[in-house]
Amino acid sequence: MKRIGMLTSGGDCQALNAAMRGVVKTLLNNKEKAEIYGFLDGYKGLIYGKYRTLGGDDFSGILTKGGTILGSSRTPFKTIQDPDENGLNKVEAMKQNYKKLKLDCLVILGGNGTHKTANLLRQEGLNVVTLPKTIDNDLWGTDMTFGFQSAVDVATAAIDCIHTTAASHGRVFIVEVMGHKVGWLTLHAGMASGADIILLPEIPYDINKVIAKIEEREKKGSRFTIIAVAEGAISKQDASLSKKEYKKKLAEKIYPSVSYEVAAAIQEKTGREVRVTVPGHTQRGGSPCPYDRVFASRLGAEAGKLIMNGEYGFMVGIKDQEIVKVPLEEVAGKLKMVSPDASIVKEAKLLGICFGD
Ligand code: F6P
Repeated sequence: MKRIGMLTSGGDCQALNAAMRGVVKTLLNNKEKAEIYGFLDGYKGLIYGKYRTLGGDDFSGILTKGGTILGSSRTPFKTIQDPDENGLNKVEAMKQNYKKLKLDCLVILGGNGTHKTANLLRQEGLNVVTLPKTIDNDLWGTDMTFGFQSAVDVATAAIDCIHTTAASHGRVFIVEVMGHKVGWLTLHAGMASGADIILLPEIPYDINKVIAKIEEREKKGSRFTIIAVAEGAISKQDASLSKKEYKKKLAEKIYPSVSYEVAAAIQEKTGREVRVTVPGHTQRGGSPCPYDRVFASRLGAEAGKLIMNGEYGFMVGIKDQEIVKVPLEEVAGKLKMVSPDASIVKEAKLLGICFGD
């Protein structure tokens, strides 16, 4: 009999339910008796002892369901070791609730911040197995995170729709794709939808290069241009500012986001009509795509196997198509970013996509 605590933390994404179902199905199919305690709203549930006991039936019929049956919230790692507003030591509280329920392990589904806290709990002596979720695909130690492919589908569909109206009106269109720190989602959705210009946080742009690309397209007879811009895209000028100066600039909120800044600059310098579309949280919503359903199920199955073997302290990920276990200490605190020298960036450039660099 295994007593398992489970939680989903951070921004949600598609296939969280599929992954949890994969863990539980694996345990039950292999005659491993399990008592599951589902902590509600991420680490908050573990801190404040808010949970539901779950049985096999709770995980039935959720393979295709978006969101998370446990709820999620952001509990920043930065302040996890600070007392809460009532003076509660949050890390001690999590340890106590783990002990009170006599848990054998925690299954934690999350992204970067979540993994830092999971690793801290491991260092504090708790048994932890984690699963990599995020539409940003920025977790170190895995080639892919679940949620990413589903979000690529949604963002691609948004840009596809913009294509037809941009063509009708001969406009420049900017579609802002999620990703504050990394540009995987923008890069993939941009390439999948035939965007002409892709701006990423990792490759600072020069607005004159962006404009030159628009003009070059017009000279060749194209009436419109599609620009996929990551939430965290940054100009070369802003990238040269100190962190403090850049934060100050953002705090002034001259533009709602970088896309509007790019739009205003193009409009001002060229007089062209520019429109901005922000699909926002639609990118994290809805049903997981088939790839994510399979992928999250595979990850869940491997996590179930680790639990049955009593192997803890790992994130389950994928490397070269194989599901692998990666020590948590190797994952926590590292971001997997788009390298400007990555082969996918070089290939995109060969295809004529402009990165504004
Ligand atoms: O979870 C990742 C992510 O969707 C990022 O792509 C995005 O920048 C951020 O979360 C949005 O966070 P929130 O849902 O808290 O607004």
